[in-house]
Amino acid sequence: MTDTWRGALELLSSGSLVSGADIGAALGVSRSAVWKQLQRLQEWGVPIEKIRGRGYRLVGGMELLSRQRILGLLSEDAKLLLGDLVLLEQVDSTNTVARRQIEQGIVHSYVCMAERQTQGRGRLGRTWVSPFGRNLYLSATWEFSGGVAALEGLSLAVGVAVSRAVQSLGVEVISLKWPNDILLNGRKVGGVLLEMLGDPSGLCQVVVGIGINVAMPRDVTIDQPWADLDCFPGVTRNGLAGAVLAELLPLLATYAETRFRGYRRAWEELDAYSGEPVRLLTPGRVVEGVARGVSDTGAICLDIDGTRSFYSGGEISLRKAL
Ligand code: BTN
Repeated sequence: MTDTWRGALELLSSGSLVSGADIGAALGVSRSAVWKQLQRLQEWGVPIEKIRGRGYRLVGGMELLSRQRILGLLSEDAKLLLGDLVLLEQVDSTNTVARRQIEQGIVHSYVCMAERQTQGRGRLGRTWVSPFGRNLYLSATWEFSGGVAALEGLSLAVGVAVSRAVQSLGVEVISLKWPNDILLNGRKVGGVLLEMLGDPSGLCQVVVGIGINVAMPRDVTIDQPWADLDCFPGVTRNGLAGAVLAELLPLLATYAETRFRGYRRAWEELDAYSGEPVRLLTPGRVVEGVARGVSDTGAICLDIDGTRSFYSGGEISLRKAL
């Protein structure tokens, strides 16, 4: 019974009209049980139309996350790196789910994705808008032995991995904004949120959270210019999930050796602001200069009146100078 929502959505996924009786018969539940589940999905913003006396239609159709399809896109080597892959219906935040796993001792290569987040988190305390069945919300755990120093630049490297995954699906106009915003034609299409646990100078665990807008409803309110991948026919949610894992798992497995040095050049090739006048908003002050790429540890380099200075830290954000 708990999976009725999934069965019903799968039957409606093509966008055609299906009767409540047919859904109930296919799932072995009553028509009223079907209606109850579909009402719940409607409350979450899933565009299900009830047509009196005829049945239900999911406007525009929907592709649910599928374990089989995602795993089918991974190489044998990548599958060996994957501990667990869990697909969830609704969660507060996949990063919180992954964090709880770490707190329970499941520290390595646990990956979860959700259809919907009720408290999706972005950097700098922002909300990450996470409607049902539209986008990718993914978190992965990994354990590192070298403390936070071993993780320097990891969030930027993950930005490179996500960009490569998106590019592999035919989307070429991807760029990065320091530290780890993924941009499509200059508008934010994805982001990375890293959270650390454990010993900052020894054995520590990291939650890598990745959000990518695939087909955001047009009527959402987001407090910055945003984009999604809706107009790219090569992009499906499962295809994207597989492509992201195919890039992310090897990155995590080798990061202790490669460190950010191994990704610096790739990051700079994707740098949206290279050579541009920018402003860095730090907690205490605003710094203006010309963006000149990043250091081997992922710090941003600004040319300020001919002198190069490096800045890093979770509380800093970057803007184009006006
Ligand atoms: C950013 O502000 O750019 C980071 C956004 C990160 C969003 C993802 S969605 C999956 C994971 N769960 C969360 O609550 N946040 C991250």
